[in-house]
Amino acid sequence: MSERIALYPGSFDPVTRGHLDILERASLIFDRVVVAVLENPSKSMLFSAAERVELLRASIDGNAHVEVGTFEGLTVEYARRVGAIAIVRGLRVTSDFENEFQMTLMNRRLNPDIHTVFLMTSFSNVFISSSIIKEVFRLGGRIDDAVPPASAEALRRKFQRD
Ligand code: PNS
Repeated sequence: MSERIALYPGSFDPVTRGHLDILERASLIFDRVVVAVLENPSKSMLFSAAERVELLRASIDGNAHVEVGTFEGLTVEYARRVGAIAIVRGLRVTSDFENEFQMTLMNRRLNPDIHTVFLMTSFSNVFISSSIIKEVFRLGGRIDDAVPPASAEALRRKFQRD
């Protein structure tokens, strides 16, 4: 049987424990997961694409089923290029649903052969998002239990904090 590949796309600015939770679950279901950083998203990013890739690489902990990539343009186009049969997205709270629903239906319209699969984070990660992490860190709050060590270190460097 051919390898079942999933694409896990996102901004990952920076990667959080919530992302890693989804990635871990996806890698138990699929033979291979390509986690891919969107290079030039419409929203502005704190970390460059190269930095976001580096943080993902440092955080996947040698998981042999996972590889890290970057892409520009349409997610479904990149999914097709890497041979993915599915796009994986994480769901945390009900407010995620509307945007994810819209993206899923649009992606399906663009390529009906690629299915979107939603995975749920564990309860401890429900309120973690990259944006809230950046805001809390900027305001001097503790974020170490919500992100992998590489992301915490990168935030300290970016904001020149010990
Ligand atoms: O981590 P994010 O910011 O929630 O990820 C959003 C992402 C990158 C998955 C989404 O913005 C995306 O797929 N962008 C690529 C452009 C595209 O394919 N748009 C059509 C899908 S509606």
